[in-house]
Amino acid sequence: NNMKYNFELLHKKALEGGGKEKIQKQHDLGKLTARERVDCLLDRNSFDEIDKFVVHNSSNFGLQKRKVLGDGVVTGFGKVNGRNIAVFSQDFTVFGGSLGYMHAQKICKIMDCALKSGVPVIGLNDSGGARIQEGVESLGGYAEIFLRNTLCSGVIPQISIILGPCAGGAVYSPAITDFTILVDGISYMFVTGPAVLKEVTHEQIDFEGLGGSRVHAEKSGVASFRVSSEQEAFELVRKLIEYIPQNNTQEPPFIPTTDIPERADKFLDSFIPGDPSKPYDMYIVLQTVFDKDSLLEVHQDYAKNILTCFGRLNGRSCGIVAQQPKYLAGCLDIDSSVKAARFVRFCDAFNIPVITFVDVPGFLPGVNQEHGGIIKHGAKLLYAYCEATIPKITIITRKAYGGAYDVMSSKHIRGDVNLAWPTAEIAVMGPEGAVNIIFKNLVRDKNSKMVKKLVQDYREKFSNPYIAAEKGYVDDIIKPSETRLRLIKALDFLKDKRDSNPPRKHGNIPL
Ligand code: HXC
Repeated sequence: NNMKYNFELLHKKALEGGGKEKIQKQHDLGKLTARERVDCLLDRNSFDEIDKFVVHNSSNFGLQKRKVLGDGVVTGFGKVNGRNIAVFSQDFTVFGGSLGYMHAQKICKIMDCALKSGVPVIGLNDSGGARIQEGVESLGGYAEIFLRNTLCSGVIPQISIILGPCAGGAVYSPAITDFTILVDGISYMFVTGPAVLKEVTHEQIDFEGLGGSRVHAEKSGVASFRVSSEQEAFELVRKLIEYIPQNNTQEPPFIPTTDIPERADKFLDSFIPGDPSKPYDMYIVLQTVFDKDSLLEVHQDYAKNILTCFGRLNGRSCGIVAQQPKYLAGCLDIDSSVKAARFVRFCDAFNIPVITFVDVPGFLPGVNQEHGGIIKHGAKLLYAYCEATIPKITIITRKAYGGAYDVMSSKHIRGDVNLAWPTAEIAVMGPEGAVNIIFKNLVRDKNSKMVKKLVQDYREKFSNPYIAAEKGYVDDIIKPSETRLRLIKALDFLKDKRDSNPPRKHGNIPL
């Protein structure tokens, strides 16, 4: 028998990856190996590996003498919570997980199969980037993955977990996927690393400071989620997947709840502060309205003036967009617009209804905002809501001022059910600002009795939901404690909603 092609030996060898020493090094860094990660992520014994015997075909720089079965990435199919999943897991113990041509072909193969079968793809990234010895072939390999990420976008969910370095052009695969999870202390993402920065821009910064989990969760918004361990990342995927369907032709899963639809929490009826300038915590509103313990916040640490969460109403998955008056008074700015726009588009692509809670004093004023392009970034959110055809339900809890009123899933842009609490103020702007403009010539002393009276008059006339309700711009004014039941009924009514946009190649969202 030819030892070279011995069944048992080859299988055993394939499972060894880069060998004992390299595995030890990986463990010493507090990291799991590629196969251990797949085991932790997937349901027990559900993994069927493919392409275990693939090796590279390069002979540059002595590579022909260094062939490792699997070529530095573990790929295959398995289950998460009983649902089919395609997975790849880069093996840092083999050439630093670097991506050569065959390594890329393995990833492309599972992506092609996942796309045809309507199955989500989960990528575990841990790689030194383009395999330097293979040169341009590895660049080609990357591009073939980027193409597939793009073609899969909006058809099957794609989740990236970063579990090591992810540098250079390699960052663009996770960037195109729907969700990117970073782990404290082991995940790094940047286009150009600290060494290059030192040379080119003379900036001194370490891996963590340039592209660690915290930076991407709080500053760049590249991380949809930041977690503190690999185990937590896998746990999160198991949770996240429960809100999301297998593909764009399916509905998200239904998760039965013991939380009754009629549950009405009376404290909500007096929750909104009487003083319109006083903040409150919108997250408490969401926690109260949605099924018990059903919220999962996305981009928690980024643009905190808007909340984007998944949640459930009577077992049905929803996307939630809500202003957070605790931060920047809940105004819309560049970051919050982009954050919410991407979330709304994800939900729309995957048949997840969007519930919008509005308390927005307007767009954030400022030179930085204007020069930073709030016009085009704010337009993204407007565009995302306008084009979305999933069920759209809106609750105005307090302020809905100016252009931000229009943007936040208003009736005029195909909001299906638009409700307001009695505390809602729907107007072009706040009463003080309005009086300053309309009575410009009269207002000398802002604290004068006359001005106070004018402000009071304006507030009484416009800062309420009744004028909007007279025109049918809000469908009803409801007691806050009724919100849960009303949302559940509205979702039920809308469950077979069909709407579409004019036929076209694609729209031109203001990027
Ligand atoms: C080939 C690589 C490699 C690479 C690492 N290795 N990166 N081999 N191509 N890109 C190998 C190392 O030679 C080493 O092999 C093993 O992997 C482990 O690497 P170490 O350096 O020992 O590990 P560590 O100290 O943990 O450092 C990890 C690292 C570093 C930070 C990732 O290896 C590194 O800086 N690598 C180069 C990164 C890089 O410049 N990549 C190209 C970027 S350009 P041995 O045999 O000693 O075990 C790019 C463009 C993508 O990616 C373009 C897409 C369009």
